Amino acid sequence: MMVTPPAPDSALIPAVGATPAPAGSNADWTIPQDWESYSQEEHATWDRLVARQKEVLKDRAASAFHRGLESLRLSHAGIPNFERLSERLSALTGWRVVAVPGLVPDEIFFRHMAQRCFVAGRFIRRPDQLDYLQEPDVFHDVFGHVPLLSDPEFADYMQAYGMGGLKALGLGALKYLARLYWYTVEFGLIREDGALKIYGAGLLSSFGESQFALRDPSPNRIAFCLERVMRTNYRIDDYQKSYFVIESFEDLRRRTADCDFAPLYQRLADMATLEPQTVLPSDRLLPLSREQ
Ligand code: PHE
Ligand code: CO
Repeated sequence: MMVTPPAPDSALIPAVGATPAPAGSNADWTIPQDWESYSQEEHATWDRLVARQKEVLKDRAASAFHRGLESLRLSHAGIPNFERLSERLSALTGWRVVAVPGLVPDEIFFRHMAQRCFVAGRFIRRPDQLDYLQEPDVFHDVFGHVPLLSDPEFADYMQAYGMGGLKALGLGALKYLARLYWYTVEFGLIREDGALKIYGAGLLSSFGESQFALRDPSPNRIAFCLERVMRTNYRIDDYQKSYFVIESFEDLRRRTADCDFAPLYQRLADMATLEPQTVLPSDRLLPLSREQ
């Protein structure tokens, strides 16, 4: 059994200025999931999405994702009940899942993460929106993000990211840190036994892009480099032009959590921003393996 460090006392987390929560939400922006009020149709939408995505991800997702799906019982029938899910997850890594009305302010998001609390949308997409949705719903947030929170290294990375977010807000450097989230937590690839696999939630929850990312010849697959990622813009309205590939979650955590970003943010301010499709001579490009 691994030993999970206790979540830091919230008093130790720097305050950056309070954002009042909307009416009907708690002060920390959470709301009750109100699991009993999901309709049969909503549960059925979840089941359809899970069945389809599990099939697509069989040989494509990182092994930690499959392990998390199993140990958290996330592919059992119906939209998960966040309280029961949190009991299982917290026993593994100390993380919990709580519901929020939609996107929350950055500060609120980071504060929760710094306390090992993942905020998830409670609503589910309509049956005619299975393939694409602009706002994160419970399928993206829970099926996409939560399985990896059962991995000890990734769990630590996410908490460190939350603390780093509060720090970046204070330094006016959020744009750089957001790119790191985008190219790891949302669209990251990992190399496992020489093969590229998916671990980013934006890929794990997308029927189309989970296949595109590992199969299409057009996007760049570039070995992860922190400074390189933080210089690179991203697209929110189309498949990515570049993916960044890590070697392991431990390696990712070491390169980020164990590194003071303040001097890096200063350097980045004087560097040109790179467009998503750019390839630099210094980039190490990773080929697709043939069977993919
Ligand atoms: N070490 C980073 C900093 O000094 C914080 C961080 C950790 C950011 C892990 C992202 C991921 O700001
Ligand atoms: Co997401």
